[in-house]
Amino acid sequence: MLVELLSGICAVLLYVFIWLKSKANDTGHGIPIPGPKGIPLFGSLFEFELGNLHNIASKHAAEFGDIVQLRLLHEHVVFLNTADFIRKAYMDERYKRFLNDRPVTFYGENFQYGSKGLIMNKRGYSPRHAQLRKHFAKGLKAYGDGVTAFEDIINREISDMMEVVRLHKDHEVFEFLPILENSLSNLLSVLMCGEKRATNEHVSLFWDYIEMVNYVGTPKFDTIMKFFPFLKYLPGPYGSACRKLERMREQLIDLFLTRQKESFMPGKVRGLMDYLIHEQLKEISENKQDRLFTDEMLFALIADVVLAGLITTRAAMANMFFCLMHHLEYQFKIQNELDRVVGRNRRPTLNDRNQMPMLEAVAMESQRYLTTGVVMAHLANEDVNFEGFHIKKNTFVFPNMWYVHHDQKIWGDPWTFRPERFLDNEGNLLPMEHPLRKSWVIFGMGRRHCVGESLARSRMFLYMANMLQKWNIFPARDATGSCCICDPRSSDVEVKIVTSPKPFKCYIRKRW
Ligand code: HEM
Repeated sequence: MLVELLSGICAVLLYVFIWLKSKANDTGHGIPIPGPKGIPLFGSLFEFELGNLHNIASKHAAEFGDIVQLRLLHEHVVFLNTADFIRKAYMDERYKRFLNDRPVTFYGENFQYGSKGLIMNKRGYSPRHAQLRKHFAKGLKAYGDGVTAFEDIINREISDMMEVVRLHKDHEVFEFLPILENSLSNLLSVLMCGEKRATNEHVSLFWDYIEMVNYVGTPKFDTIMKFFPFLKYLPGPYGSACRKLERMREQLIDLFLTRQKESFMPGKVRGLMDYLIHEQLKEISENKQDRLFTDEMLFALIADVVLAGLITTRAAMANMFFCLMHHLEYQFKIQNELDRVVGRNRRPTLNDRNQMPMLEAVAMESQRYLTTGVVMAHLANEDVNFEGFHIKKNTFVFPNMWYVHHDQKIWGDPWTFRPERFLDNEGNLLPMEHPLRKSWVIFGMGRRHCVGESLARSRMFLYMANMLQKWNIFPARDATGSCCICDPRSSDVEVKIVTSPKPFKCYIRKRW
């Protein structure tokens, strides 16, 4: 309580100081961005809650237009409310160098060794960030989405997962999310080190780590720790969370880095970690000054994959599964496609993917409808005149994905699940330059665009195609006959860093 009080007083003092300073330095970089005034001194601080952010941001978008600014104490937060503005901010030559940095966070500085890795990397246009992205993408491709060997591994993992699902006989109700989490954790471990190293204990480690980062990454925790970093060393909830996270970080390092280095064989790339270790050894042998691939960097990249790779993919797959479960007609449509393209005597492969536009459209629509989107801030590193508006230096710039994906002007019927919107009259996927495709921004854009998109989408295809080839999936009903509701506005859907359904029960029925 005392800590919260002190942090409040410090914040107010800091705010007054910065407000006076910003008054003195008004640079006239365009007109002020419209937005709510909020309450004196605090601005919109009290409505800025993670689970409610999408509603608040959408409400302000509807009221103020394509760009909205909120004030949280002394800080400014801008929401970009159209795909066009997001694209311009992150990709246009005039703005991209100024709007692709990330804010400094307590988590990044303390647990990613000074914001190393990709996600927390502070400078979106630094040569190091460019180099890292290139290597990360190459490492993922070398093992992740570029090689048929990985497809075989995914298929084996899907078979294992389906065995677990199969234990639940027709009509027997079960929870799907823990099974999916387990399966994705196994895949993560194969992607990282080439073998299924994830015991049950490791599966819990991944998900506990994610949960703890979510907690440490909340605006409240972040603000308090920035004001009182010494709390890290004291007893109490803040220190205890930090110590817990530190212990988990050590366990992840042991699992993916120490053990991988011990069994490393030059010339043999078993997974992403071997690729990175190989690059590290190359830098050492070349006696390179200012090395990129230090152990700290390698760990930060491990954390990136655990965070960015697991939480998002779990959410995206759960969303698609949830939508399909509630729209049986689309299960049938995909099954018609599967019967025509794949038949019943072999497994679906990634080569079938471009002949299955309905499955692709359902995947895209479920991501739009429930908006898996990650809440990831960019930071303005300069005062920018953005399309006539003044974005001040150090403003947090968010893409308002929720609003963009539910904007009635774009989608017409945004609250209806209708995958056909992504198909043309012949049933083919709309071309990339179609306005609807351009408004689908689930993986971000430009320099910070998701490096795992291709891997994530191919995995989703294989999981869904394999399951639907064999089964139909139904939502379970409780004793009163009611079941969970698949609607982005329903309380059965949870919007946090990503959006996904709350734990739900289902049952399956064999197709043949
Ligand atoms: C359906 C699943 C996924 C979704 C919806 C998703 C979405 C996103 C989004 C919205 C961003 C931020 C873009 C921005 O800041 O403007 C991002 C960044 C990132 N994603 Fe993904 N992602 C997914 C899967 C993955 C996977 C499987 C991996 C890796 C194995 C991955 C690795 C990353 C990394 C490293 C970044 C940071 C890039 C940077 O800051 O330069 N993601 N992702």
